[in-house]
Amino acid sequence: MESFYKESIVLLEGAIANITAKLDIIRKYKIVKNDKDPIEYITSRVKSEESMKEKLVRKGFDVTLENALTKVYDAAGIRIICAYIDDVYEVVKMLKGYHDLKVVMEKDYIKNPKPNGYRSYHIIFELQLDLAGEIKPVYVEIQIRTIAMDFWSSLEHEMKYKKNIKNPELIAEELKRCASEIATTDLNMQTIKNMLNE
Ligand code: GTP
Ligand code: MG
Repeated sequence: MESFYKESIVLLEGAIANITAKLDIIRKYKIVKNDKDPIEYITSRVKSEESMKEKLVRKGFDVTLENALTKVYDAAGIRIICAYIDDVYEVVKMLKGYHDLKVVMEKDYIKNPKPNGYRSYHIIFELQLDLAGEIKPVYVEIQIRTIAMDFWSSLEHEMKYKKNIKNPELIAEELKRCASEIATTDLNMQTIKNMLNE
């Protein structure tokens, strides 16, 4: 990993640590104040050298470190999993409240799901990291989704990378059907939750 990203691995890992720490503080603060924590859990990763190279080629960019850091925005990635849809939007609001995070791109695949049924809220942030005198910008892709959306995405992702699938059309169709059932269930769960809190 270090070999491809060289010293920039510090920036990518630093940006992830920075945002994760910010979120941890808010979560703890909410808990001590007896507010509800909208986050179930957070995962993160630096994109592997192999998938970064594959993505650069797929997008028509030269395979260089410079392009990996400036043309592809998900070298550093954070995934935030919530129980309910309203929590997803609360987290989006929370993230946008950080003055040192600049929104570069935002896609609401919950309101506008992808044709295959993929749902998630994506935001790309730019963060300035202070390296003792040197200020470096870093992009971080944050995906916010419900547990159910995450469950679906894992299975769909598995299919995408599996070769020689016997009946891809049927599987895609079934996945799409599950995606809309999940969306309905997410809405129903939210409704029940709201009723409980009334
Ligand atoms: P890539 O899909 O990575 O080329 O990026 P993009 O520029 O098209 O952005 P997009 O917002 O579509 O996707 C960014 C990331 O979201 C991906 O790297 C995946 O982690 C996730 N994602 C997007 N679409 C899908 C999908 O259809 N299925 C699954 N499982 N994940 C998806
Ligand atoms: Mg894509």
